[in-house]
Amino acid sequence: MSENLTLTKTTIVLHWLVGLTIITLIAVGLYMSEYEVWDLYPIHKSIGMILFVFILYRFIRRMKRGWPQPVGQYKGYEIILSKVVHWVLIIGTILFPISGMISSGAGGHGLSIFGLELLASNYDASGEAIALNSALADLGHETHEILGTVMIVVISLHILAALKHHFIDKDNTLKRMLGK
Ligand code: HEM
Ligand code: HEM
Repeated sequence: MSENLTLTKTTIVLHWLVGLTIITLIAVGLYMSEYEVWDLYPIHKSIGMILFVFILYRFIRRMKRGWPQPVGQYKGYEIILSKVVHWVLIIGTILFPISGMISSGAGGHGLSIFGLELLASNYDASGEAIALNSALADLGHETHEILGTVMIVVISLHILAALKHHFIDKDNTLKRMLGK
């Protein structure tokens, strides 16, 4: 089943909830790791894990319903580009929290949501994290870092496309996602 020309309230709310939180988490993630702001780590991880529930729901819903129909007639390459970008965005949103959880969990840092422990940490007497599986932890860490770069590029492209639709093509693409 394909979503028709009007977007449901759920589609709109999920798009902005997930999209804007992801942008914030990318900014916070880059800032906290660059400047080693350790106090931000548990907040970044907790929000990321809570968001994962919404991300999964959105992904399953999108796979079941299909993608929204474009608001107008576009050239073949535009349709293909927008499809590729939407797929990268939705897969990226899933890989972000999964790779983060693997990195922290397998790295021995444990997983908890605002103090609620889901996986115990594995610290030695001096407070150093002992990895449960260092190869897996490295894979999660690398993936999380690469995603940061890839998603900044793709999200920028996505925002530019939304602005092009609104200001140059003057169509309803952005208005529709704003519920108008
Ligand atoms: C200020 C930031 C953003 C703006 C202005 C924006 C705008 C839009 C617009 C206008 C559409 C509708 C496209 C169409 O009708 O074909 C859309 C769809 C979509 N956007 Fe965004 N977006 C933003 C951020 C994001 C972010 C950060 C993500 C994910 C990381 C994202 C993921 C998607 C996806 C997957 C779709 C396809 C429809 C859906 O599944 O909901 N967007 N966006
Ligand atoms: C949708 C959710 C998430 C987004 C968009 C996101 C984004 C980011 C980004 C862009 C960075 C900076 C990467 C770098 O250049 O080093 C980062 C760092 C980090 N994230 Fe996430 N993240 C998310 C969820 C999570 C989750 C759920 C966890 C763990 C449970 C997590 C754990 C971490 C850790 C530990 C770092 C610091 C890595 C380091 O110190 O090198 N993230 N995140």
